[in-house]
Amino acid sequence: MQKIKIIKADEIRYDFAGGYAETEILAGTCPGIRICKCCLKAGQARDMEVYAEDEKMQLLFFTSRSGVVKSGTRIYAIDDQAVFVPDFDREKVTIIAGEEDLYFIRITGPMTEIDHRQMANCQYVLPRFVRLRESIEYTERFTQESGSKVVSHSIVAGRHLGRYTMGWNIGAGPDFIGQHTHPTLEQWYFMIDGSDFTYVAGGNKIPVCEGDVSFTPHGTSHGSECTEDGYINYVWFELNRAWEEI
Ligand SMILES: [Fe+2]
Repeated sequence: MQKIKIIKADEIRYDFAGGYAETEILAGTCPGIRICKCCLKAGQARDMEVYAEDEKMQLLFFTSRSGVVKSGTRIYAIDDQAVFVPDFDREKVTIIAGEEDLYFIRITGPMTEIDHRQMANCQYVLPRFVRLRESIEYTERFTQESGSKVVSHSIVAGRHLGRYTMGWNIGAGPDFIGQHTHPTLEQWYFMIDGSDFTYVAGGNKIPVCEGDVSFTPHGTSHGSECTEDGYINYVWFELNRAWEEI
């Protein structure tokens, strides 16, 4: 069985070429999934690589607040942490960093027949730009329904991007997310602003902070806790492998 993996913020190197750096993290963790930490220097513009709908999905998660995303004739201001879902290769996507360097996470993953079918059924319109503060709140059995103050948000809901989903959990300490297990979900956490808590997964107690990234394989019990001085704040990304033999 696969193990939990963590990459700490200070282990991630940025090698710039033409004002842009893209560093793959946790490589080989999950077949077909590629996750990169990226930085575009202040004032720089970059045309992003885009992919056909039968090839790959792509998510761009802006962890800093600077600049704009242009997709076709639309322009989205990155004035909050936000997730951008391009309309595959139907529109050119350009990112322009503002007065500060723009940090973001680029995720790509294969598109299968299941993804196409689910997306066709839910008629999700792309491109989509979701500011975290505008994402939809919901509760979970192991958060508010267990007495936790952590607020869960949906950024990319189930089936809207096939097997791929994304959300955001936030709660000031003392707080917790109860232990639970997802039998078919591969799960990544991206710790953001001020994050400082203990991730308790697979029997391990792992301190995590802003900038760290974790991977938790399906079938691993996990939860989180923080003291009065701590802060739970992370965006999660999941791949549902319910349609595979795993
Ligand atoms: Fe979970």
